[in-house]
Amino acid sequence: MKKLDAFSRLTELSQRPLILADLFADQPGRGQDFSLQAPWLRLDYSKQRVTAEVLAALQQLATQAELQSWREKLFTGEVVNASENRAALHTALRTPAENQPAELACVEEQLQRMEQLVTRIQSGVWRGFSGKRITDVVNLGVGGSDLGPLMVTHALREHAQPEAKSLRVHFASTIDGSQLFDLLEHLNPETTLFIICSKSFTTIDTLSNASTVRSWLNSHCADEQRVLRCHFIGVSAAADKMHAWGLPAENQLAFWQWVGGRFSLWSTIGLPIALALGAPVFRQLLAGAHAMDEHFRHAPLLQNLPVMLGLLGVWNVNFLDIRAHAILPYDGRLKYFPSYLEQLEMESNGKSVSRDGEPIDHATCPVLWGEIGANAQHAFYQLLHQGTQAVASDFILAARRYDNARHYAHHAELQAQHQLNIANCLAQSRVLALGNAAVEPTDNPFRHYPGNQPSSTLLMESLEPESLGALIAAYEHKVFTQAVIWGINPFDQWGVELGKQVALQLQPLLVSTLDEGEVLLDSSTLQLARYIQEQQ
Ligand code: F6P
Repeated sequence: MKKLDAFSRLTELSQRPLILADLFADQPGRGQDFSLQAPWLRLDYSKQRVTAEVLAALQQLATQAELQSWREKLFTGEVVNASENRAALHTALRTPAENQPAELACVEEQLQRMEQLVTRIQSGVWRGFSGKRITDVVNLGVGGSDLGPLMVTHALREHAQPEAKSLRVHFASTIDGSQLFDLLEHLNPETTLFIICSKSFTTIDTLSNASTVRSWLNSHCADEQRVLRCHFIGVSAAADKMHAWGLPAENQLAFWQWVGGRFSLWSTIGLPIALALGAPVFRQLLAGAHAMDEHFRHAPLLQNLPVMLGLLGVWNVNFLDIRAHAILPYDGRLKYFPSYLEQLEMESNGKSVSRDGEPIDHATCPVLWGEIGANAQHAFYQLLHQGTQAVASDFILAARRYDNARHYAHHAELQAQHQLNIANCLAQSRVLALGNAAVEPTDNPFRHYPGNQPSSTLLMESLEPESLGALIAAYEHKVFTQAVIWGINPFDQWGVELGKQVALQLQPLLVSTLDEGEVLLDSSTLQLARYIQEQQ
C-alpha cells in the first residue's frame, strides 16, 4: 500500500489541519455535497474529516490498488481467497435464478429444498417423534453459523408472515452449554427441532451442543433413528460429516466451500431466518443484497456506497491514525448488528500478512465494537465525547418507524418515541463533530467538548427485509474494498486455528493428574489448571 503513489499524496494531505467545525463553516452545502444514495440506503459522510482533495486521492489509491479488477474477480468466481485456493461467491447466493450461470444452478436448487422444508415444518407436516407438530426450533451454530441468522431474525421479526408465527426460533451457540441449559429447561422434546449449522461440521462448540441435545432427546425417546429423522436438520458444506453424525440425507441442506462462514447467511445457513420470518421474506432479503451488489459492481467509485465506506475507513486508520470504530444503530431491532459486524470486519481484515504471505507495514482493521446508540449514550459515549482517543463512528437509522397505525397499539406514543430517538441520533453525531460549537463555547473545562470525532450516518427509509439485505451487503463490500487496498485476503481466518488446536491439547490434561502438563505447559496455564482441578 505504501508503494502506491496516492499513499504519499494522502500522507501529505493528512498533515493539514482538518477541523470539522471549520470544514462545515467553509463549505455551506457540505451535508448535501458529501452524501450519496445507493439502493435502499443513503450515506452522509460530511462529518468525516475529508475534503474533495482527500476524496480524489482516496479514489486514486483504490484505482492504483486495482480495486476494479479485484471486484470483477470477486463477482466472476476467480480465486480471491488464495491461502485456501477458493473463490468467494457469496454474491451468487443472491443473484436471481434467471441470471445465474448454469454451473451455479445448485444455489436455486438448495434454496428450493430449504423452502420445501420450511413449508413442511410451518404447516405441521413435519412432526416430532410422538407425532406432535413442531412448535420450537433451536439453531445450534457459532460465528457465521449463528450471528447472521440471529441478527436478521431479531431485526425483522415484525415482518414475520402469519404462517411463520406458529414457530418460536431460538439460538444456542456457547460452548459452555449455558444457553442450551436455559432453553432445554423450557422446551418440550416432543415438539422441538434442532438445526445443526456448521460449514465445516467439525466446530467443537456446535458439535458439543448437538451431542448434549441428542442425549436429551434420547432420554425421552429410545428410538435413535426416529430422533435423528424427526428432530435434526443439518446445514453444512461437509455432507460426509453430516452422514457420519447420523443425519439422513433428506435432513441435510448443503452449501459450498466458496461461501465464507461470515458471508453465509444468504445460503441455507439462513434456514432459521426463513423459518422465523417466512421464505418470501428471506427472498426479499436476498433481493436487497443483490441490489447493493449491482451498485457496488457498477457505480463510479466516489458514488459507490460500500467503496466510500471502505475508503473512509482506510483514511481514518492509515492517515489519521484512528484505530477504533463504533457501530451505533439507533434501532432496538438492530441489537445484534454490532456483534455481526465485529465478526465480519475483524475476522476478515484482522490480518498482518499480505495476500502473498509477506509481512505488511501498515495498519489494517480497527477495533470495532458497538451497541444500540441510544443505550450506548448512557454507557460509553463519555469516552467518545471527552476521552483521549479519536474514534470513528457509524450511526445507523431508519427514517420511518411505526407508520402503520393498525399494526401498533399506542401508535402515537411510539411514533413520538421514534422522533425522540431520531433527535438523539442526529444530536450525537452533531456534537461529536462540532463539540461545543454545536451550541455555545464554554470556559468550563468539565463541560468542554472538543468535537472533531468523525462519523458517517447510514439512513434507511425504513427497516425492511430489502433495506437490511442492502445494509449487510454494503458492509461486506466495504470489507472487501479495504482488503484490496490493504493488500490482504479477507476470506481466510487462520488466526483462529491455533487457539482451537491448543484447546484440544489442553482438554485431556485437565482430566489427568497434570503431570504431563509439567513439560508441556507454561507456569501460568499449569497453575490455573491445578487450581481449577482442586476446585472440581
Ligand atoms: O472459529 C471461527 C470460525 O471458523 C468462523 O469463521 C466460522 O464462522 C465459525 O468458526 C463457525 O464455523 P462452522 O460454521 O464451520 O461451524
